[in-house]
Amino acid sequence: MRVLTFDELSPSMEADRALLQVAAFGGVFPRRSIEIWRSGSTVFTDYVGLFAAEGDRLVAQVYVLRMPYTFRDGTEIISGLAGVATRPDRGRGGIARAILTEAHRRERAAGVRFISLWTNRSWGAHRLYETLGYRDIYSSPWAIHQGPPAPASSRRRPGLASARVSDLREIERLHCREAGGQLGFCREPNGYLRTARRAGELHPEKALVVARERGALVGYAHIDRTPYRTICGEMVATSLRTRRALIAEVGRLARGAVYGFQHTPVSDVPRLFRPPAYALSPRAWWGYMGASLSGEWSRREAVRRFATDDPRFLCLAGDRF
Ligand SMILES: CC(C)(COP(=O)(O)OP(=O)(O)OC[C@H]1O[C@@H](n2cnc3c(N)ncnc32)[C@H](O)[C@@H]1OP(=O)(O)O)[C@@H](O)C(=O)NCCC(=O)NCCS
Repeated sequence: MRVLTFDELSPSMEADRALLQVAAFGGVFPRRSIEIWRSGSTVFTDYVGLFAAEGDRLVAQVYVLRMPYTFRDGTEIISGLAGVATRPDRGRGGIARAILTEAHRRERAAGVRFISLWTNRSWGAHRLYETLGYRDIYSSPWAIHQGPPAPASSRRRPGLASARVSDLREIERLHCREAGGQLGFCREPNGYLRTARRAGELHPEKALVVARERGALVGYAHIDRTPYRTICGEMVATSLRTRRALIAEVGRLARGAVYGFQHTPVSDVPRLFRPPAYALSPRAWWGYMGASLSGEWSRREAVRRFATDDPRFLCLAGDRF
């Protein structure tokens, strides 16, 4: 088995790369999107990811990201793994373990101290990560609305509007300002929303609602909508009034379908999401895991280090990778 970086993949390996992604996650990660993220942000490592090859066939992959994270003693760059997948007909052969171990080696050599990933706690992958030193450090709460739906005739509250491309820079700045002083995921205002739009992963007018007062941006909500359910996992508001207006707007946009909220917006202001209006779960099947690249640690030590038990911990939908 050879381990290749993204730039070492030959054009004939693209179909195998798509197969790995589609068989594991149902979608594809087009080369063009990767190149847009590479040129427009610092989110990828220089090698983008590692790919296990046998002959000219790819059999496994992992993408390796870098992001700023604010610990109690300051902000530093940590690594993130995404898209871990082995060919379905090559499972349990130790291939994923081998490329993850190599990713750890590279990240350690680059001076990174901590590495993290999101996974479903009920999947076999979880066991793999645990044996590699990852510990469960956070799982987002859920709040699903269970009261009567917003009347179909209800109007959007004044000051709210669908976002336009021209709002994106201001949204990034507002996020950054409001995230100041918090712990955990702290995106820099480096154009991540604009990059996501260029990569075709964000449609501002469909996915973002903005709140303005006297022209100034005072809040936004990121909304993931299908005809069957509406989920908001990212809400930033400078006042409780704006937060309430955005919550009402999520309900209105659901048009009678199920709607709910996720991540720290639910735990930040718990009184806005109480039964009987909401069905609550303190955690999800998806969870965040963290490992120290300098040695084994306990779950308790990992939680303490990543500060996910701190009231200032911030995690929004855009922080899931
Ligand atoms: C998870 C996945 C990447 C593992 O790939 P792999 O090459 O089979 O992994 P390895 O052979 O290196 O397995 C290492 C360990 O992972 C755990 N593991 C892997 N698959 C497992 C399964 N189906 N059930 C339970 N444990 C499992 C075991 O602890 C295994 O060690 P063991 O074989 O000595 O018991 C692969 O099953 C896959 O692609 N799954 C679909 C996509 C996915 O779930 N990705 C993770 C996204 S977060």
